[in-house]
Amino acid sequence: MGIEVFSRAIAVGGKSVPNRFVVLPTEGNDSDADGAPTARTIERYVNHARGGAGIVFMEAVAISRDARARISQPTLSDKTLEAYKTLVKDFRSANPDALFMIQLDHAGALSDSVFAKPVFVYDKPGACTVLTDDEIAGLRDGFIKCIILAADAGFDGAELKFAHGFLGNDFIDPANQRPGKYGSSFANRTRFFSEIVEGARRALDARNFILGVRFSAYNGLPKGFGSSGVDGSVEDMDEPLRFVTLAEQLGCGIISVSAGSAAGNLDILLPGTAYAEGCLRHFRLTSRVKHAVRIPVIGAGYSRIAHSGLQGHDLLYWAGKNLSDGNVDLIGLGRQAIADAAYPDKVLAGKADTVKVCTTCAGCGMLLGDQKNVGCTLYDEYYKELSKARK
Ligand SMILES: Cc1cc2nc3c(=O)[nH]c(=O)nc-3n(C[C@H](O)[C@H](O)[C@H](O)COP(=O)(O)O)c2cc1C
Ligand code: SF4
Repeated sequence: MGIEVFSRAIAVGGKSVPNRFVVLPTEGNDSDADGAPTARTIERYVNHARGGAGIVFMEAVAISRDARARISQPTLSDKTLEAYKTLVKDFRSANPDALFMIQLDHAGALSDSVFAKPVFVYDKPGACTVLTDDEIAGLRDGFIKCIILAADAGFDGAELKFAHGFLGNDFIDPANQRPGKYGSSFANRTRFFSEIVEGARRALDARNFILGVRFSAYNGLPKGFGSSGVDGSVEDMDEPLRFVTLAEQLGCGIISVSAGSAAGNLDILLPGTAYAEGCLRHFRLTSRVKHAVRIPVIGAGYSRIAHSGLQGHDLLYWAGKNLSDGNVDLIGLGRQAIADAAYPDKVLAGKADTVKVCTTCAGCGMLLGDQKNVGCTLYDEYYKELSKARK
């Protein structure tokens, strides 16, 4: 298979994307006390810009300081807007052709109780108070405001995080049987999402700004999204496919498919040594979504492949095959882009043999779990030393 399958341009929301590689959002946990990007944050994204992916996503950016799961999680606000403008300017100086998008997030029940404020969509273990409808409307407006700020900062688009057990995911889960207009039926569980997208579209008016969504097509938890019925134990794509159809109808320009949950299901989210076959689950879910919509679809879960039980074939084999078979439009890189930001450039230049290959050793994830700055502990001395330091 040649590299042409990766180097073909594609249109996303009316903008041209020069190739099929996407840097997925991955948290760096290195912003300042207000949530503004620091020199380290800027360096990470300039490296990604130079790395040559068609689209780079900025990691989960909190819509408020209360919405953080990480102590140094970036936050977009009036106060930090100028710093985000600088970040975007530096990114574009390094690569004027790539799209730079931002992921917007509220960590919901996973917000840290020490430095932020966990909130619950419905009663679950550990829930102190469940959000009222008025409070939900306030969070919806918070997302809409951040989308406008992201457009003002110069990003090409914003992705709403409805994945991995964070607030958006809690809304759409069948477990959300709260009474009233935000729970129980599919229409009610997706209302928070619809209201954000519709409100943002109105506020953006004619501005050329892409809206997208990242979601877990199967989160694998009891009563989680992508299960059969309210309490099914079997994967079922009925609701996920209705959800992406809704996103397309509302005017979203891109969909990013993920799986699993940070609330107890990391093996599905991050296929690793113990579960190499998990890559195939991602391919299957993504292919189903791809066949249900006309807007571009990003797939994930590729980093494990280099060291998987799928012997004899590397990331490029499966990525190229999925592209040419029509199972996906864009290849998302999570850990492989942390290990080597230059991955897309090296592949497109025919130098794949020089890639610093991610071994899915989980070092970066452990830094995140320890609330430290996040990077590759295998290839980068700063993060290697950080991983040895006491918590
Ligand atoms: C350290 C780390 C941070 C992550 N941060 C985010 C994030 O901010 N938002 C998100 O949607 N996914 C996040 N993810 C998940 C990745 O985007 C991706 O879905 C996952 O790593 C699987 O892809 P891979 O096999 O290429 O690594 C993170 C993953 C890791 C390892
Ligand atoms: S620390 Fe390990 S899992 Fe993370 S990017 Fe580096 S090699 Fe991959």
